[in-house]
Amino acid sequence: MPAVVIIGTQWGDEGKGKATDQLGERVDYVVRYSGGNNAGHTIVVDGEKYALHLLPSGILNERCVPVLGNGVVIDLDVLFEEIDLLAERGVPAASRLLISANAHLITPYHRVIDKVTERFLGKRKIGTTGRGVGPAYADKVNRIGIRVQDLLDASILRQKVEASLEQKNQMLVKVYNRPAISPEEVSEHLLQYAERVSPLIADVGLVLNDALDRGEVVLFEGAQAHHLDVDFGTYPYVTSSNPIAAGACTGAGVGPTRLNRIIGIAKAYTTRVGEGPFPGELLDETGEALRQAGGEFGTTTGRPRRCGWFDALVVRQAVRVNAVTDLFLTKLDILTGLEKIPVITAYEVDGERTETMPMTQTEIHHATPVYEYLEGWSEPLSAARKLSDLPKAARSYIERVEELTGAPVSGVGVGPGREEVVVIRDLLN
Ligand code: GDP
Ligand code: IMO
Ligand code: MG
Repeated sequence: MPAVVIIGTQWGDEGKGKATDQLGERVDYVVRYSGGNNAGHTIVVDGEKYALHLLPSGILNERCVPVLGNGVVIDLDVLFEEIDLLAERGVPAASRLLISANAHLITPYHRVIDKVTERFLGKRKIGTTGRGVGPAYADKVNRIGIRVQDLLDASILRQKVEASLEQKNQMLVKVYNRPAISPEEVSEHLLQYAERVSPLIADVGLVLNDALDRGEVVLFEGAQAHHLDVDFGTYPYVTSSNPIAAGACTGAGVGPTRLNRIIGIAKAYTTRVGEGPFPGELLDETGEALRQAGGEFGTTTGRPRRCGWFDALVVRQAVRVNAVTDLFLTKLDILTGLEKIPVITAYEVDGERTETMPMTQTEIHHATPVYEYLEGWSEPLSAARKLSDLPKAARSYIERVEELTGAPVSGVGVGPGREEVVVIRDLLN
């Protein structure tokens, strides 16, 4: 089973990092293909917590080669801070890392623009992570981006930074009333990393296709999630890339027919950070209780995550668009102790019932959830390792998730630790 993609099926923070890390010791390459350091993937190994933003989570496993594909946007300050922090903790990340020559850079001016545009939007703001991700992708599509390979030619890099800043400085000064940014300072800042980056640059598509030809296992670690996808998410409250499974093809250079398995990570309830519609959001003490029980505070920005019950319409759409072959249901342990567990099975939109995600943004804003109430359980789940270790009601919950979403649940998370997982079907064979 050589090419496996892990994606988020909701609005992010489903536990993709943990799922990736858990498979890591059997994987040869682990590849980030979209997003940047807007991601926050938390992994707990032997009680030690690691929060990764840019490097793929498989990096914690010695045998796998971490890769940043062309679809990723890279902030070099963050990359080397993360590499150095891991090195201090005994994880020699940099020696194995491969970076696509075509990946784009997040520069200091992208960070500034992310923040000023959010401020300018006022109450219509997106609630971005403020990491410069959107502006870096905008430059990529606008063909004025700076790529990793530009670090290999200082004079080209200087020219490109100058060209990119020409119009931006006009905007910064005249529209946003901010100081202009010096192209020389930015260029020198980026070029200080050239020596460290150049040995890591690779033709990632070539490396990965060769590895697949040899029968090696390549794991594509999605960041963000289906409903934050710029095409399929709750636009405009989305991120500026394609975190869906198809993004692994465009963001790493492998063809669609090479992908063998698509693992959708779904939290046993729903969370969202930032602005945007969330039909099942619980604005009352139940939502607060879920937030506290699940420790739902952002890994990247520390913002409290908005919480709701499991929404089958949300996950079902992700299953369809991503051709999910397996679901990995995380944080089931957090639901312990509830007498009844509500699950959203349909929406009422302007008096009509629908079991599929509404087509338009207006309808999503008008949607009221319809709940079904499943039996709860009182036993703690964290020691369970196989399906039969779970209480009957927890097994019924899993079965209902499968029925409602149309995908089999192959793994269940019962705690944050690497080993805290119930394996139902092997995800790699
Ligand atoms: P990601 O962005 O999808 O990788 O998810 P995050 O790391 O942002 O958020 C998931 C959080 O849940 C992290 O704090 C994980 O340590 C934690 N987590 C993951 N799986 C489980 C699980 O099955 N049970 C519990 N209790 N925590 C989990
Ligand atoms: P992981 O990989 C949750 C959200 C932001 C904001 C919107 C756009 O940890 O699941 P951006 O900075 O990308 O322009 O912000 O997307 N967002 C995430 N929410 N988890 C993430 O990543 C996210 N990455 C971006 O909160 O609403
Ligand atoms: Mg996260």
